[in-house]
Amino acid sequence: MTVNSIGLDTKKTKSIAVDLNHLLANFQIYYQNLRGIHWNIKGKRFFDLHVKFEELYTDANIKVDEIAERILTLGETPLHTFEDYSNAAKVPVGKNISEDEKAVKLIVDSLAVLLKIERQILDTSDEANDEGTNSMMSDFITEQEKTVWMMKAWLGESV
Ligand SMILES: [Fe+2]
Repeated sequence: MTVNSIGLDTKKTKSIAVDLNHLLANFQIYYQNLRGIHWNIKGKRFFDLHVKFEELYTDANIKVDEIAERILTLGETPLHTFEDYSNAAKVPVGKNISEDEKAVKLIVDSLAVLLKIERQILDTSDEANDEGTNSMMSDFITEQEKTVWMMKAWLGESV
């Protein structure tokens, strides 16, 4: 086994970076979904939701940067073109969504995809002893699960 300068198995680290790039691409789609609903939301709940969506995209923006910098820390290159993001997209792309329930459902559906990718990275990073990536995934998962609960509560649905 060859190890890199941070003591991790080089081969496993490369594979984790590929998965992190997949997460990064999908996070960018989620981020852009949030910008879209922040801009296009209409109706009597406009003021609440406009602000809430800004709060969420600001948080997503920070996480995008953390993922990209983790990829660099692992010695690989983060994806950074719209083309690469579109090609990797598994998160549903929201377009022209202005109705509040559809907007909140888009968030829930987007987070469901991100959670799935993160849980998979949680397993592979655990197996590779990559605590840095592992704890990042744990933190993301905990926060996003809470967001899903709150969005579901807003929709009047159970988790
Ligand atoms: Fe704005």
